[in-house]
Amino acid sequence: MPEMSTPAERAAALRAEIERHAHRYYTQDAPEIPDVEYDRLFQQLQALEAEHPELLTPDSPTQRVIGAVLDGLQPVRHAVPMLSIKTETDTTPAGALKFDAAVRNALKLAPDAPPLRYAAELKFDGLAINLRYEAGRLVQAATRGDGETGEDVTHTVGTIASIPKQLRGTAAPVLEVRGEVFMRRDDFEALNERQREAGLKTFVNPRNAAAGIVRQLDASIARQRPLSFFAYGLGDVQGWDVPPAHSGLLDALAVLGLPVDTHRTVAEGGEALAAFHAGIAAERDALPFDIDGVVYKIDNRALQQQLGFKSREPRWAVAHKYPAQEQSTQLAGIEIQVGRTGKLTPVAKLQPVFVGGTTVSNATLHNRFELRRKGIRIGDTVIVRRAGDVIPEVVGRVPQPRAGYVPNFRMPRACPVCGSQALRERGSVDYRCTGGLFCAAQRKQALLHFAGRRMMDIEGLGDKLVEQLVDGGIIRTLPELYKLGVVKLVELERMGDRSAANLVAALEKSKRTTLGRFLFSLGIRHVGEATAKDLARHFGALDRVMDASLEQLLEVNDVGPVVAQSIRSFFEQTHNREVVEQLRAAGIAWDEHDGEADLTPKPLAGKTFVLTGTLPGLSREEAKEKIEAAGGKVAGSVSKKTDYVVAGEEAGSKLEKARALGVAVIDEAALRSLLA
Ligand code: IVH
Repeated sequence: MPEMSTPAERAAALRAEIERHAHRYYTQDAPEIPDVEYDRLFQQLQALEAEHPELLTPDSPTQRVIGAVLDGLQPVRHAVPMLSIKTETDTTPAGALKFDAAVRNALKLAPDAPPLRYAAELKFDGLAINLRYEAGRLVQAATRGDGETGEDVTHTVGTIASIPKQLRGTAAPVLEVRGEVFMRRDDFEALNERQREAGLKTFVNPRNAAAGIVRQLDASIARQRPLSFFAYGLGDVQGWDVPPAHSGLLDALAVLGLPVDTHRTVAEGGEALAAFHAGIAAERDALPFDIDGVVYKIDNRALQQQLGFKSREPRWAVAHKYPAQEQSTQLAGIEIQVGRTGKLTPVAKLQPVFVGGTTVSNATLHNRFELRRKGIRIGDTVIVRRAGDVIPEVVGRVPQPRAGYVPNFRMPRACPVCGSQALRERGSVDYRCTGGLFCAAQRKQALLHFAGRRMMDIEGLGDKLVEQLVDGGIIRTLPELYKLGVVKLVELERMGDRSAANLVAALEKSKRTTLGRFLFSLGIRHVGEATAKDLARHFGALDRVMDASLEQLLEVNDVGPVVAQSIRSFFEQTHNREVVEQLRAAGIAWDEHDGEADLTPKPLAGKTFVLTGTLPGLSREEAKEKIEAAGGKVAGSVSKKTDYVVAGEEAGSKLEKARALGVAVIDEAALRSLLA
């Protein structure tokens, strides 16, 4: 923002800027800047208003809950306003102590008074939703909106499988449950991957995806896109005995059938809160969903009431943040990385930036179509996201005028590693190197993949060693690995007698494997761990997999035309068959007919199920897992081949079709007895 002369002008400009970004964030679900930058603007305005109280206006963004109602959705007036909480941006444990001290101070407690009890929870990064139950039935779901008035999103929230339509064991006239709707990281990655492959717009982060889906007018979109929910509080309540402690309230909500996160705890005193903050920080990357902090609440609800509110926020709760998972930085250059399968990925070389708890200087740009769509060019200020174990990615650019003309990035026509031609497969957005094992990039990664823990599990064969083996020309093909002896190995840099002997022993040990692991280790495109296991289970012998026709491959669980074709192409190539033969000759073996030694009973083997509606005690995923574990298959649509349709509440057209075709329709109880 340019320097302005008067504080009044600066305040006006900041307010306009904040309003504009708030509109993009809350109404359009399409923010232009990362949250940290928005927070920075907000704090600047707060500081300015503190310094010049005469500038404070009641309609300043600092004085009200921001958010607006989207055109097309019906407004819902909240019976009890939906407020937000104060955020503690000191991401060190000191932030927790500060909150405890402030509460003790507000309660005028003596320094030696006993510690306060807090409920400590995760701060889910999604959107706040109010679920209104009347006589135990879900009658309405609404967004927060501006806190007073939200939007009616019953149609989309109603598609979320884990939200009960009917509460268990209460018929209270009114029970409003508040919580967060969010998208799990794996669901988000899968959704974006599908969008990317179809050449469609991707979502910036799981929260924007969740918000965009919930606020769709059309519920059918929500139905195809999995969302999750955790309850963390109440709205209006009539005729239900609210437990005296917040922690007890969450227990009670879980008993009613509502999803409540299990990472929560009760902590005594500020030190315990700080320990919770640190413990969850260590776990953050491994969580299946994004969190942007933790929340502390005074556990005793009477004490909460005593503490009350200050301007727009309760004094009894605080959100204690973690380092942001999105930051902006400058795109210094673009390099091409060649993957194990030969895929060429444009990688952003960034001005190093601290994001999600580490310093990031490389991030994926996915493919050239996405680069174009996002309008990213070298020199731009871009937004980088790093969440969990996911590879850091550039999710967009911050709109800013460029200093001069910068050309669009172009993909190279040749592989930067081996010089082979780079081609784009039909119907694919990706360029690939055609060099195969000839390409050192693919050779290294093929070896690393082969040696991986879930593949052949060759302990000690890591990055550095593979690099030396390939760059030194010692290994060109996979089978040569098993010819390595101690004598050859000790010639390598940093390789002592002991490590060499250990590696030879590890190679020897890896020879006893399972067919599933072996198939996975070959690095066949589109054959992941689960598919490899399915192939092993289905065919039982390697030769049968190698000789299987497309039709035979298509009979395997979850194998579609693309996967089947990829397996066929792999085994049609002579050099791949040679590799397999040489590996067998090297002594790799498994029990041909019992590849996975799967001894669990399979009462549902050969049976096909279709799931529809909401089951009372199982999510769709859980039901699917149980059926598959028992040897059954779960299909997406009903046909004459369907053996059973498992129908829950609000089952739709699939149920009608099952009846029309005379397919057996069962409920959850019947499914459970089949499983048993
Ligand atoms: S309690 C009056 N608990 O964070 C207290 N909020 O400003 C109401 N959030 O948008 C909020 N996880 O949607 C609470 N465990 C949690 C939460 C949580 C996420 C969100 C909430 C709101 C914001 C707080």
